[in-house]
Amino acid sequence: MESIEKVCQFLSEAGTYYLATVERDQPRVRPFGTVLLCGGRLYIETGKVKAVSKQIAANPKVEVCAFKDGKWLRVAGELVNDDSRDVKVAMLEKMPSLKAMYSADDGNMQMLYFKNATATFSSFTEAPETVRF
Ligand SMILES: Cc1cc2nc3c(=O)[nH]c(=O)nc-3n(C[C@H](O)[C@H](O)[C@H](O)COP(=O)(O)O)c2cc1C
Repeated sequence: MESIEKVCQFLSEAGTYYLATVERDQPRVRPFGTVLLCGGRLYIETGKVKAVSKQIAANPKVEVCAFKDGKWLRVAGELVNDDSRDVKVAMLEKMPSLKAMYSADDGNMQMLYFKNATATFSSFTEAPETVRF
């Protein structure tokens, strides 16, 4: 399996991950669950009206952390906005519960993909494994 696929699978299986952003000199963190591998890119989804979206627009550097089965994953990188309709539709198909809140043409749904990402899988029992994408 490709490294980016492993990262996507871990985040999907963890169900919830925590997304940290920066607001001026203040870290902000909140639970997220959206994740999609599309066209070789790892996407997450949010709403443009949210504070998190505004923080990413001002400073695209983020980190996410998820924990599952005694292992944790951190992905640090930059998020890039992608307004492609196809990617929004793919996200809504993967996670149909999003359709209660978003649609591809609502002007709010926002797809963001990682660039310059460093992902590290860690546990208390094994050496960390780092992958980049
Ligand atoms: C389990 C869980 C998963 C969530 N997943 C997402 C998500 O993928 N995208 C999103 O925009 N909000 C998601 N939320 C809601 C955000 O955590 C919430 O809107 C948060 O307040 C956004 O951060 P902000 O207030 O700094 O903008 C999720 C909430 C929970 C409890």
